[in-house]
Amino acid sequence: MAANVALDALLHEHRRFPPPPELSASANAQPEIYDEAAKDHLAFWEQMAERLDWAERWDHVLDWELPYAKWFVGGKLNAAVNCVDRHVAAGRGDMVAFHWVADAEHDRRDVTYADLHREVCKAANALTELGIQAGDRVAIYMPMIPETVVAMLACARIGAPHTVVFCGFSAEALRGRILDCNCRAVITVDGQFRRGSPAPVKPTVDDAVAACPDVRHVLVVRRTGDEVNWQDGRDHWWHDAVDPQPEEHEAQAFDAEHPLYIMYTSGTTAKPKGILHTTGGYLTHVSATHHYIFDLQPETDVYWCAADIGWVTGHSYIVYGPLANGATSLMYEGTPHPGDKDRWWKLIEEHKVTILYTAPTTIRTFMKWGAQELQRYDLSSLRVLGSVGEPINPEAWIWYHTYVGGGKAPVVDTWWQTETGGILITPLPGITEAKPGAAMRPFPGISADVVDDEGKPVPNGSGGFLVITQPWPGMLRGIWGDDQRYRHTYWSRFDGVYFAGDGAKKDEDGDLWLLGRVDDVMNVSGHRISTAEIEHALVGHPSVAEAAVVGATDAITGQAIVAFVTVRGHVADDDAGGERFVEDLRNHVATAIGPIAKPRQIMITPELPKTRSGKIMRRLLRDIAENRELGDVTTLLDPTITDMIRERMADRAEEHEG
Ligand code: WTA
Repeated sequence: MAANVALDALLHEHRRFPPPPELSASANAQPEIYDEAAKDHLAFWEQMAERLDWAERWDHVLDWELPYAKWFVGGKLNAAVNCVDRHVAAGRGDMVAFHWVADAEHDRRDVTYADLHREVCKAANALTELGIQAGDRVAIYMPMIPETVVAMLACARIGAPHTVVFCGFSAEALRGRILDCNCRAVITVDGQFRRGSPAPVKPTVDDAVAACPDVRHVLVVRRTGDEVNWQDGRDHWWHDAVDPQPEEHEAQAFDAEHPLYIMYTSGTTAKPKGILHTTGGYLTHVSATHHYIFDLQPETDVYWCAADIGWVTGHSYIVYGPLANGATSLMYEGTPHPGDKDRWWKLIEEHKVTILYTAPTTIRTFMKWGAQELQRYDLSSLRVLGSVGEPINPEAWIWYHTYVGGGKAPVVDTWWQTETGGILITPLPGITEAKPGAAMRPFPGISADVVDDEGKPVPNGSGGFLVITQPWPGMLRGIWGDDQRYRHTYWSRFDGVYFAGDGAKKDEDGDLWLLGRVDDVMNVSGHRISTAEIEHALVGHPSVAEAAVVGATDAITGQAIVAFVTVRGHVADDDAGGERFVEDLRNHVATAIGPIAKPRQIMITPELPKTRSGKIMRRLLRDIAENRELGDVTTLLDPTITDMIRERMADRAEEHEG
């Protein structure tokens, strides 16, 4: 109770949090960094690139032919060498790269940089022996285990771009990605552990690759030891293929613009976009941002990014950024759940974690469980807290700062996207003031603005669309195989600038507040999911005629998926039959995309609200889903429909309460 009163007081003061003085003097970022970068942003990025090891230096910093950028033109480097070999060569081989902790409490393993070097070299040799060459694409479908990092770095080492697919995606989703970028091989596991129980993974891969004729090899890490089906010739155990390999591998240096990876993300159509990232600029961007934004001190910090490697946050801030910087990280296989409410705090106390990076949805879950879950642990080691994935509400920000950060650790709210490769908007701990809920300012060397409908910058105190006005090193180099879509999605809305798809406002001081997506992309627990993708899955069900999906505000997950469907023919609409059908539809979506895409609620309705020209009015459905007054209904073909849907929703809600 007392704690809540204190929170209210903090909120109502519209608090500003000055940088903690004890951090300011010694922080990696000093105030001059902003001016220096503003004076000459190319010189700034060049300086950042010098933090890496290059086999050949670049001729010039940037070739920019809108919308295509080339950074560090003519330079050559190897990403894996930068993430591993150079630390070993510098005598830091015994430093721990990952304290890996399994879902099961007793299962843990420390992986040093020397271990990582040995394993990456062996895996690179194994991939080469299987015939994988520079330029071939390799899919990785794995949980949070050290071999996932080894697999990614082994691909990078031989110049084979990887595409990591989140291990919760369905066979259909995995297949779509494998086919889209035409992968030669898949690296996976027999199964994974989730909340203490083993769950099969390889059957999903078997199902996916059955229709992927170009996949010649499936490399399988033994994780659960469960029985799996085996296709001789195609399937290889990781331990058979990798363990006997030589521990040395001579790495070739690749062009700065050599593709490093493709990461699929949701857009406004049903088909996910393959976002392409290349080597030199990306590595420069993620290592520089990681160094300054988290104030990483590699000899003393224990850094924990609690994302999954299957998303971009895991790529940039579990793998490439931290490893390029020689960080010691905690890597945790599990996720918070009600049966294990204090596991995180135990881990932080035990490993003396100093930097924590997570998503607002997780913070809100912890808030719901209550501060008592963490107050019995010593979290005083924490000195920087990061947030990513969705706008952080001031309540969550203050709770994070107060309880997790002991009222002293600065919170950095970091805005970025799969497309941007690394963080673009953020405070810098030690030098910038923070305001709960604001991402504050562009990182040095980044130029962002908020513009109105016509693309004109809005004055302080107003809102509009977020745009990035100069190319940056970590930016996407395109959408795999779809130049047209790349130009259209990001470069056609406003002339000459990158359109992020997010709304934002500049406050009276000119500081930036991110307001969420302005397109049909939802953000559910920090995961990007497109309404079109779920609608596509729903209409793929034989009994569904039409579907409209909206993201409704949700106190924990940020947004929640609500679907409205009309059915073909007759579906039993007595209570039991209706509920069974809805459950069947939810499972259908999980099978088509993955459990993260399961709608929270599906409403069966005789019709959808449409305009006279036949467009579904999602705006009204969102009003209904959020139980709000309806906006303008004058363009509706049949205004009685919205009332009917609303009544049905109310009936359902009553049934559930009753
Ligand atoms: C949202 C995740 C507000 C935003 C790194 C963006 C945020 C989308 C923030 C990208 C933040 C991410 N504040 N919104 N700090 N961080 N977003 O590609 O809408 O999975 O466009 O990349 O998440 O999601 P993605």
